[in-house]
Amino acid sequence: MNVTEAIDSRMSCRAFLHTPVPATTVRTILETAKRAPSGGNLQPWFVYVLTGASLEEFRASIRAKLPSHPRGEGHEYDVYPKVITEPYLARRFTCGEDLYATIKVPREDKAARIAQFARNYELFDAPVGLFFAIDRQMGFGQWADLGMFMQNIMLLAREFGLHTCAQEAWAAWYKSVGEFLQLPRQLMLFCGMALGYRDESAPINRLRTARAELNEFAVFCN
Ligand SMILES: Cc1cc2nc3c(=O)[nH]c(=O)nc-3n(C[C@H](O)[C@H](O)[C@H](O)COP(=O)(O)O)c2cc1C
Repeated sequence: MNVTEAIDSRMSCRAFLHTPVPATTVRTILETAKRAPSGGNLQPWFVYVLTGASLEEFRASIRAKLPSHPRGEGHEYDVYPKVITEPYLARRFTCGEDLYATIKVPREDKAARIAQFARNYELFDAPVGLFFAIDRQMGFGQWADLGMFMQNIMLLAREFGLHTCAQEAWAAWYKSVGEFLQLPRQLMLFCGMALGYRDESAPINRLRTARAELNEFAVFCN
């Protein structure tokens, strides 16, 4: 698989098989991903890996809390801007509508939408859960570095026949995630990532999200 194929075949997978991912594969992916660039080579990323019994225990702990905290525990950072304008608003709307259309859940069926969103907290049944954190002293630049590290992981996953879903949904559970992972106070949770083998039969995995045209985001100054 070349880089173009890895980029093109990456998508956010929201239904995984239970098939375990070999521990060596996870380690190899992280070892390789660490070659990500970062300003000043700060390498400001931390990743916590949950698999097997610890992942099951973690899932169960969140499952137990969800009914009393359907919206989570609050946020340490705004996942989206408080005020968001076009064209971003429309893109986000389309993404949501297209996602729920794959599983035939109409807009009015709030319960079904909430239930599907809650699948985030099962990591969509993935056998590996990754949680990304960054030192609180870091700023915008280093958050971008963390994103590059994550993208490396998502692309490398494709090389191993694996899929991923980055999950900011976990930002709403930063306290419980932090406690479970025993995250040092100095580290801030950015997001989670489900990693595993895609369930090819799941309709939700058929979503191919749109992208803006080149002229909407690229400016060529001649
Ligand atoms: C940092 C980040 C956080 C995300 N958080 C979630 C999430 O919590 N739940 C989810 O289902 N998708 C999440 N996504 C997936 C995006 O919705 C998805 O990347 C976008 O719609 C484009 O679709 P694609 O990844 O299939 O190309 C996240 C993506 C990124 C990059």
